[in-house]
Amino acid sequence: MAKKLFVKTYGCQMNAYDSARMADLLAPQGYGVAAAAEEADMVILNTCHIREKAAEKVYSELGRLRALKQNRRATGHDLVIAVAGCVAQAEGEEVRRRAPWVDLVVGPQAFHRLPELLAGVRTGAGAAIDTDFPAAAKFDHLPEEAGGRGPSVFLTVQEGCDKFCSFCVVPYTRGAEYSRPVADVTAEAERLLAGGCREITLLGQNVNAYHGAGPDGPDGRPWGLASLIRHLAGLEGLSRLRYTTSHPLDMEAELIAAHAEVPALMPYLHLPVQSGSDAVLAAMGRRHRAEDYLRLVERLRAARPDLAISGDFIVGFPGESDADFAATITLVREVGYASAYSFKYSARPGTPAADLEGQLPEALKIARLAELQNLLDAQQLAFNRSCEGRRLEVLLERPGRQPGQLVGRSPYMQAVHLPAPSQLLGKVVNVTIERGMANSLAARLADPHDELGADAA
Ligand code: 5AD
Ligand code: SF4
Repeated sequence: MAKKLFVKTYGCQMNAYDSARMADLLAPQGYGVAAAAEEADMVILNTCHIREKAAEKVYSELGRLRALKQNRRATGHDLVIAVAGCVAQAEGEEVRRRAPWVDLVVGPQAFHRLPELLAGVRTGAGAAIDTDFPAAAKFDHLPEEAGGRGPSVFLTVQEGCDKFCSFCVVPYTRGAEYSRPVADVTAEAERLLAGGCREITLLGQNVNAYHGAGPDGPDGRPWGLASLIRHLAGLEGLSRLRYTTSHPLDMEAELIAAHAEVPALMPYLHLPVQSGSDAVLAAMGRRHRAEDYLRLVERLRAARPDLAISGDFIVGFPGESDADFAATITLVREVGYASAYSFKYSARPGTPAADLEGQLPEALKIARLAELQNLLDAQQLAFNRSCEGRRLEVLLERPGRQPGQLVGRSPYMQAVHLPAPSQLLGKVVNVTIERGMANSLAARLADPHDELGADAA
């Protein structure tokens, strides 16, 4: 009987991409996809280490899986449990010390070795741990991705980060910046498009620092992200391009120009600032001031006036005063975010900020987070309401919760649901927005909905 694999993904979109690639890797070993751990012969937890809460969730899930494994063994079967991703990278052996029933620990740069590691576990060689580092080797060893991932897909073009923001584990878990060569990215994009996708989101921890080898062989001059975007935008079948996540320092003029000049590049940009206080930005090692960020947003909006901006914020960084926090609120008011993610500062072992004096009490962090989130929620709702009555193009990605309903995304990344026939799945259609709510838009098909250019296919 065919075996089944369940991959549970935590954290960022890069992990979501890696999880899909893990399934690709194990498919030739006879693993189909299970809908839940209860139905699986192997479970991979693809983990996130960015904040303490994310890492701790993994251990509670491992507790649950232990019971499942024991039940399975009582009936003469087994459940292989693997921990992948950034907790695996950061904690290595420690994972097995805390959860000895884990069979396999594999870091984000080594998961191409999953089949071998799994074979080792099966032959009783004992637990396997691989947290080797070079990202290049991994990409060279991954199989071609399976098609049929749906109309909107992720494509990792860059991994790792050299910025070393003082709060962040990424440079330690994902390693140094690595950019995939243009030719590899193009080939993967072409296969994804041949498999029916319409929208590609280029992924990287610091994606706008992309500098992949040019297509003229290994000596080809590196290309920046703007050149890659212009190139991919010309591929047949592609309707939409996005990229995430970007650092303000790497937002070069050429990339800003691409927002004005490349129609496939969607008017949405995730551009984290973390704080609006210069003192906190300096302590975070962000290497720019609040003013620089505001000027950058101005330049981006000059290039693309309707650009929707999203961000990440950390409140309660060590030493953050009331005035520092007020500066963040001021910056948020000035920018006007279409959406945003905000977090309480979480001290991560091994990062410089964890050893700073002036760690703040939890209650203060909670209060600041609530205030910031109230403002960001209000901005998001205002943005969604401002779309009421507008005609927007939506890529229909999946069935909605109600019968007869489809769900997709607007150019600005908003979730949009509308009554529509299922034949329109995977198409870009014109809709009229009827209602803007906190987290989504309600719409109806516009008349005509299927305009030339929106979906000529
Ligand atoms: N504590 C809280 N939030 C963090 N982030 C990264 N590291 C930490 C931390 N130690 C947030 C940042 C980043 C996002 C992915 O997670 O806002 O942009
Ligand atoms: Fe972390 Fe800063 Fe790199 Fe982003 S830019 S991954 S926050 S170190």
